[in-house]
Amino acid sequence: MQLLDGKFASEKIKLEIAAEAAEFTAQTGRKPHLLAILVGNDGGSETYVASKMKNCEKVGFESSLVRYDTDVTEEELIQKIREINADAGVDGMIVQLPLPKHIDPEKITDAIDYRKDVDGFHPVNLGRMMRNQPCFIPATPYGILLMLQAYGIDTTGKHCVVVGRSNIVGSPMSILMARNANPGNCTVTLTHSKTTNLKEMVLQGDIVIAAIGRKNFVTADMVKPGAIIIDVGINRETSETTKSGYKLYGDVDFENVAPLASWITPVPGGVGLMTIVGLLKNTLASAKKEIY
Ligand code: GUN
Repeated sequence: MQLLDGKFASEKIKLEIAAEAAEFTAQTGRKPHLLAILVGNDGGSETYVASKMKNCEKVGFESSLVRYDTDVTEEELIQKIREINADAGVDGMIVQLPLPKHIDPEKITDAIDYRKDVDGFHPVNLGRMMRNQPCFIPATPYGILLMLQAYGIDTTGKHCVVVGRSNIVGSPMSILMARNANPGNCTVTLTHSKTTNLKEMVLQGDIVIAAIGRKNFVTADMVKPGAIIIDVGINRETSETTKSGYKLYGDVDFENVAPLASWITPVPGGVGLMTIVGLLKNTLASAKKEIY
């Protein structure tokens, strides 16, 4: 078994991003700028946004955080998004999900100018991804592609089984792994909570991408020996023995699956770190007008 080490891969790519950002700043007199909107104070969202902001500083980007209380209205948020759309000093904008129940996340996503949609959630970016055209690819799927690339893994012709069909990870991942590209060129099976014979399906995977959001869901009896295992899960469980007060678990039973795998991502220290790299790369591409 070999580890797909998110720390190693992300640090390497961040050095490249920092060099490109410095060049951009030297040429334009400004830094690439990512702005995040955070509503409420969900523990997970707080951590993710803080990490996104910190990583911006690390690679020489400007970062801004706009915060709202949980009772913000949909109209107020959309008004703010329109303001940022019109601000030439902002290259990328993200609205951290999940949002409170009274706010429709699709309305919010649709309000973001697709040219600043560095999360890649806007219908224009999703449509262009389907067509294999230049676009912002959602950050976590993009990070997974970058991880496979960093380790020189050829995915062509392999059977990729994706577990979970979320709009953020599973669905876009299934499209990207089937595209005429490398990483890509896979035969893809997209499985989810209503799939019958899930175990038999996952057993067929040369590559398994677990993104279902359930602790240790993929067990050793579901994995073909030699498979490549990508674990997207970030399941928090409160713990009295850790400083942070919680412990992270992946969607894969790492201890028992790792000995079977050819390659596997750990949690933490795997895909999570790559997600941020995907977001930074999209923001830099937006600043440099490489896509739109
Ligand atoms: N919540 C969980 N993942 C994501 C993400 O990639 N982007 C945003 N905006 N919110 C999230």
